[in-house]
Amino acid sequence: MCGIVGYTGHREAVPVLIDGLRRLEYRGYDSAGIVVAENGGLTVEKRAGTLDVLVDAINNHRFPATSGLGHTRWATHGAPTDVNAHPHTDCSGRLAVVHNGIIENYRRLRGWLKSEGHVFRSDTDTEVLPHLIEHYYRGDVYQALLKALERLEGSFAVLAMATDEPERLVVARQDSPLVAGLGAGENFIASDIPALLAHTRATHLFNDGEVAEVTPDGIKVADFNGTPIFKEVFHVNWKAEQAEKGGYDHFMLKEIHEQPRALRETLRGRVAQNGRRVVLDELELDPDLARNLQRIFITACGTAYHAGVVGKYVIEKLARIPVEVDIASEFRYRNPLIGPGDLVIVVSQSGETADTRAALREARRRGARVIAITNVVGSSVAREADSVLYTWAGPEIAVASTKAYVTQLAAFYLLAVWLAGERGTLPGDECETILHALRELDAGVQTLLDRTDEIAALARRYQDQHCLFFIGRGLDYAVAMEGSLKLKEISYIHAEAYAAGELKHGTLALITEGVPVIALATQPDLFEKTLSNIKEVKARGAEVVTLTFGNGHDTEDVGDHIIHLPPTHPVLAPIPAVVPLQLFAYYAAVYRGCSVDKPRNLAKSVTVE
Ligand code: AGP
Repeated sequence: MCGIVGYTGHREAVPVLIDGLRRLEYRGYDSAGIVVAENGGLTVEKRAGTLDVLVDAINNHRFPATSGLGHTRWATHGAPTDVNAHPHTDCSGRLAVVHNGIIENYRRLRGWLKSEGHVFRSDTDTEVLPHLIEHYYRGDVYQALLKALERLEGSFAVLAMATDEPERLVVARQDSPLVAGLGAGENFIASDIPALLAHTRATHLFNDGEVAEVTPDGIKVADFNGTPIFKEVFHVNWKAEQAEKGGYDHFMLKEIHEQPRALRETLRGRVAQNGRRVVLDELELDPDLARNLQRIFITACGTAYHAGVVGKYVIEKLARIPVEVDIASEFRYRNPLIGPGDLVIVVSQSGETADTRAALREARRRGARVIAITNVVGSSVAREADSVLYTWAGPEIAVASTKAYVTQLAAFYLLAVWLAGERGTLPGDECETILHALRELDAGVQTLLDRTDEIAALARRYQDQHCLFFIGRGLDYAVAMEGSLKLKEISYIHAEAYAAGELKHGTLALITEGVPVIALATQPDLFEKTLSNIKEVKARGAEVVTLTFGNGHDTEDVGDHIIHLPPTHPVLAPIPAVVPLQLFAYYAAVYRGCSVDKPRNLAKSVTVE
């Protein structure tokens, strides 16, 4: 997610903007820029790379301007280049905008604005904003922004300024964070509180659907119709370090809580208006190829591999294509039987994992077509694959992957439904039902996040265990693998994931009095089978925590503790099911005093084989 900073007051703006952007660096970014109004015009400086690259570029200049905008960009639409960096300006160079979020209908707006004579310079969705505001601008940037908002679809925190009214900043928020800092004779805007704390602790927290005009003397807030809104002053008493994490104790917890939004962003614009079809134009996949596919291979590492295991079940079930999933470090050396006509999907949050990159190259060398599912625009796998399906999780900072995983699952659901549509393997009604349920998952996940205490209590109960088991069948087994990895990775408790039906072939010997078993029982067609496996372990003294929808089954003896999941279509169960497992791992690690965000021996991006 991008960082936004705005200042209007009595001080030189540039040092305030750079300082604010520095305090947002922890969020991750790939380019930075500023704009100030001076000498009757706008001065824009922007560079790909770190903030230091920008600072070096402007080092010898003094900017007397006392208002301006700053931005650190996390690329979504368009590679991380100087041109694509924010701020973006209109044709006249008299209006500037910085933006966080995704303008869903930017292609349509861009086409229309071009036909009106506007000239675009970047590949970004954001650039439609200054041109749209220009279209409506009659000397009042606030009124022009209100008009522009009527045409926008998507998520945005927008901050704009005009040469003719240099002291006046205008802002709008829809589904993307934005705060104001209240000073004396000066005011501040930021995407996140840390950028404000050096100056003030008095803030306004903007809600979705709010706009504001900000001058050195005050901040007027209104709704998108221009109706004034009274805003309470919120006094921040977080320490700077806490503020970076949005008030959470760790990035991992913050990222777990960002999952509803990450899901919304990843689905945004990819389900047709009628809700019956998936739109994945970015894949540039020939429908004939989709219809004639004989096999798909999925390859990835760690959590991304676990997303791939879910992908296999889902593509096979919905699109009826055989899928093989490989750990990337194995794929390359097993002389895989692939060639032209095969489709390989590589999955990588960072897009830089060495094993995944090597697997990608091997697949391409053998003539297969490669799709990358990744979270980082312009990353190595994004550049080396034939096409890319981006997950819009925003930067993931904690080593343990959480929000990237659920968005990888969302990407697989979209892909599976798209393939099913092209191949005619799923009735239209069923497509619609699944897509509808997919779009409701953010709310379901939120209900689980609201029940954190329930999971934390279980983590407290089992925090001193030496070993836990996760069991499930089918999709539940795939999620069990991820739950087990999460627990090992950050709490250092040994955990094993087993296909529930496989226990009796050996592992049951390890189940003794008091051993915790986390059982996933979300699939109606497998429920009774899994129930039998739960009874097997209970009979040997295991203490069972069961995750289930209930599904009308008598849940009385399905476990010692039952976590009820919010209802959804069974094929989508992995998304809600993984959330309690993430929280369980998180709290177990906290109670054991582990370094949650940076677990021992591990790195966020593994760039060696
Ligand atoms: C997940 O919690 C891990 N930190 C790790 O397994 C990770 O998913 C793996 O290294 C792959 O990373 P990537 O998605 O960036 O390729």
